[in-house]
Amino acid sequence: MSDKRMDLKSRIDPARLPGHVAIIMDGNGRWAKQRGKPRTFGHHNGVTSVREAAETAAELGIKYLTLYAFSTENWNRPKLETDALMSLLLKTIHKETKTLNKNNIRLNAIGNLQSLPPLTRKMLEKAMNNTAGNDRMTLTLALSYSARWELLDAVKKIGKRIGEGELDADDIDQSVFEASLQTHGMPDPELLIRTSGEYRISNFLLWQIAYSELYFSPKFWPDFRKDDLYEALIDYQNRERRFGKISEQIKAD
Ligand code: FPP
Repeated sequence: MSDKRMDLKSRIDPARLPGHVAIIMDGNGRWAKQRGKPRTFGHHNGVTSVREAAETAAELGIKYLTLYAFSTENWNRPKLETDALMSLLLKTIHKETKTLNKNNIRLNAIGNLQSLPPLTRKMLEKAMNNTAGNDRMTLTLALSYSARWELLDAVKKIGKRIGEGELDADDIDQSVFEASLQTHGMPDPELLIRTSGEYRISNFLLWQIAYSELYFSPKFWPDFRKDDLYEALIDYQNRERRFGKISEQIKAD
C-alpha cells in the first residue's frame, strides 16, 4: 500500500463509518470524450470504479452501498447507448457474481426492473438469488430508477391497501410509507456522493436523503478510486450532523 493511501485510510475512524453510502456515478461520457472515444468506452471503464468502490466499502465494514447505475430518464438516450449499457450490465453481473460471493456481498436492485430487457433482468435476478445469503455488505444497483417513480409507486401501493380496507389513511406514518419504498428494510444513506463536478440530485433517493451529508467530487466516475472514497469518508467524519438540533445539544448527547 502506498504511503498516501495508508495515510488516508488511517485517518478514517472505523467506529464512525456511515452504515449506508449512496453514489451518483457521473461523468463516464465526458471522460470518454476527453479521450476522443465513444461514450460507451467511459461506461466500460466505469466498471473498474464500481468494483473498486464495492471492494473498498466492504473492506471498511460499510453495510450498504447503493449505486445509481441507470435512471428512468436515461431511457431517453440514443438506443445504441442504452443497449450498450444494458449489455454491459448483463456481462458485468454475470462475471462478478463469483467475486461477490467470495467477498460475502449480497447483490440487490431497486427501480422499475420490469422495464429492463428480459435477459438483463433474468441475469440480475439470478445473481440476486445466488448472493441472497451473503451478509457482509449489500450492494444495491439503482436500475431504471427514479425517486419520483418510487414515491408514486409507494403512493399507489398504499392507495390499494386503503381501497381494500387493509389500511386506514390515518395510520399512514413514516414507517408505513418507508415499507412501501423500494429501499424498505435499508437504513437511509448517511452519505451521498456525486462525481463529475455536478451539483445535482437528479431524482435519486429523494425521500431517503432527507438528512444525508452530500459530497461532490470533481473526478469523472472512471477516475474515482479507493483514495477518493477514503477522502469522501474523511470529509464526512469531519462534519457535525445536527438533525435540526443545535450544536450544544449534539455535544451533550
Ligand atoms: C453516468 O455517466 C453513468 C451512467 C449513466 C451509467 C453508469 C454505469 C456504469 C458505471 C457501468 C456499469 C455499472 C454497473 C453497476 C456494473 P454519464 O454517461 O451520465 O456521463 P456524462 O455526464 O459525462 O455524459
